[in-house]
Amino acid sequence: NLKNIRIAIDGPASSGKSTVAKIIAKDFGIIYLDTGAMYRAATYIALNNDLGEDATAIIALLKENPIAFGNSLEGQLVYLGEVDVTDAIRQNDVTNNVSKISAIAEIREYLVEAQREIASHGGIVMDGRDIGTVVLPDAELKIFLVASVDERAERRFKENLQKGIETDLDTLKVEIAERDRKDSTRKVSPLKQAEDAILLDTTGISISDVVAKIENYAKER
Ligand code: CDP
Ligand code: CDP
Repeated sequence: NLKNIRIAIDGPASSGKSTVAKIIAKDFGIIYLDTGAMYRAATYIALNNDLGEDATAIIALLKENPIAFGNSLEGQLVYLGEVDVTDAIRQNDVTNNVSKISAIAEIREYLVEAQREIASHGGIVMDGRDIGTVVLPDAELKIFLVASVDERAERRFKENLQKGIETDLDTLKVEIAERDRKDSTRKVSPLKQAEDAILLDTTGISISDVVAKIENYAKER
């Protein structure tokens, strides 16, 4: 039953996880959970309150200002308590510090527990780095999305342009490669393809083709 399916989508930055996950969630009428937004929200709290890598303090503030999701015409909204942090968590300072905060074991434990709770009723597509390996090891379908660094940097570049942000393509390539390196080499829950995940290389492949492939796998389950 597709209404109860749990789909795990992992992969490096800008491989297309959130774009395809949102479409699949809509098509199947299931929940979409952006776990990256949760690590970004934790990072935002750490930076804004000068907490460094003090996990206890970061978690205390996360408890006081819980991460919540909402919807608007422009897409999903992310809140910390009552505060809308949708745009703030996508800023460069957060992006460039998130790998450091997401490498802290206590932060991961806290967020993974919340993610499992949200998935406990099934009917969910979750995207991140460790969904298939750690968060939902028994998910009905696991996808590992990849694409070349050049293509991923170009995707981010275009995405930024649409938002009116001018970025340097070479800088983006370096930043993406660096975040991949940090995410794949950290000790706790590194970015890694689960043994039973299906590898999809999306280099040169349209969003609709990627979605169609994943939805076909889901229907086969
Ligand atoms: O959208 P983008 O690929 O830029 O990243 P994201 O999915 O928003 O995730 C931001 C960062 O959060 C990643 O670079 C990881 O460091 C961390 N993350 C993680 O460690 N585990 C997850 N399940 C999701 C994100
Ligand atoms: O969530 P993640 O960081 O993995 O990537 P994303 O934010 O979903 O995708 C990054 C950008 O790549 C978006 O602007 C998508 O529209 C674009 N994209 C694409 O051009 N072709 C694909 N097959 C998938 C995504």
